[in-house]
Amino acid sequence: MTTSEVQPIAWQDGSVRILDQTQLPSREVYFESADYREVCEAIRQLRLRGAPLIGIAAAYALVLAAAESQPPNAGFMPYLEAAAGDIRATRPTAVNLSWALERLLARARGCTSIREARQGLLEEAQAIHAQDIENNKRIGEYGASLLAEGSTVLTHCNTGSLATGGFGTALGIIRTAWQQGKIKRVFATETRPLLQGARLTAWELNRDGIPVSVVVDGAAGQLLRRGQVDAVVVGADRIAANGDAANKIGTYPLAVLAKENRVPFYVAAPTSTLDLCLATGEEIPIEEREEGEVATIAGLAIVAQGAAIENPAFDVTPNRYIDTIISENGVARRPYEESLGRLEVAIHG
Ligand code: MRU
Repeated sequence: MTTSEVQPIAWQDGSVRILDQTQLPSREVYFESADYREVCEAIRQLRLRGAPLIGIAAAYALVLAAAESQPPNAGFMPYLEAAAGDIRATRPTAVNLSWALERLLARARGCTSIREARQGLLEEAQAIHAQDIENNKRIGEYGASLLAEGSTVLTHCNTGSLATGGFGTALGIIRTAWQQGKIKRVFATETRPLLQGARLTAWELNRDGIPVSVVVDGAAGQLLRRGQVDAVVVGADRIAANGDAANKIGTYPLAVLAKENRVPFYVAAPTSTLDLCLATGEEIPIEEREEGEVATIAGLAIVAQGAAIENPAFDVTPNRYIDTIISENGVARRPYEESLGRLEVAIHG
């Protein structure tokens, strides 16, 4: 059994090569850029997306900014910090973005020359990228151990190779469990408005030969009520100290429905998605995206003219609905104030 080798981002000797996810599943189109502003635009437009991948792209974007010749008298660090500000402003919810930027800025501050800083930034970005793939494999192992033989799993949005450095978080668990012969079928929710489940998750699972059925978001309750789902596994964009987890809009109702139907609800995320400075999910910034994403599908108007539109891109699932948070450093369970701290202690030493 193979797993998908798709590379959503690659560093190529002074530029980044990015798979344009807005073209999937119809076309596999890559573009290259050496301009950090273009990478910012790609993040804003969701040409690449998913919390860990946004972090990796942000890191490479800062490497590109550092390679530019600064305006006279600007100073290297102020210029770099201003560029980091531009990159940070692209999307507010996924904390991996600012986590990656802080890691690179700390590395640059410790350097004694611009040349050393440029080299150090590239090394740090490549390390973040490589570690993310390793972390996903470990998340996959921990998560798969929670699934029984013959499981049918429901997942939301896209958390696979396309959302990470490679392999995936929630989808990494599904991949590992599939390799272990434990997965019977995957239900992928369509994930309105931008259809990451229908377009991206189904595309990835098909490539790996993992049986997948796409369902409209509203079908999840019926599947859960009928006993057709053994576990729900999703990713996260930011997890507060009490375990409240922000993820793609539509995750919270899935969690409530899973609890109502006594189906385990798992959140998979690397520790770079933990934001233990925030006490609860109330403090997580939720991105509001443009109305056009809801009002149209492939350019066709589907909402009656004159109707107002709200488009929150994420929701927050309260910790009481989350059975287990699965990270590269092991699993955490309630009370999360204690268990998440132990996971983070493990990464910082
Ligand atoms: O708006 P997106 O497509 O970036 O949202 C992605 C998600 O919500 C994912 O579930 C989350 O980032 C986890 S990815 C491993």
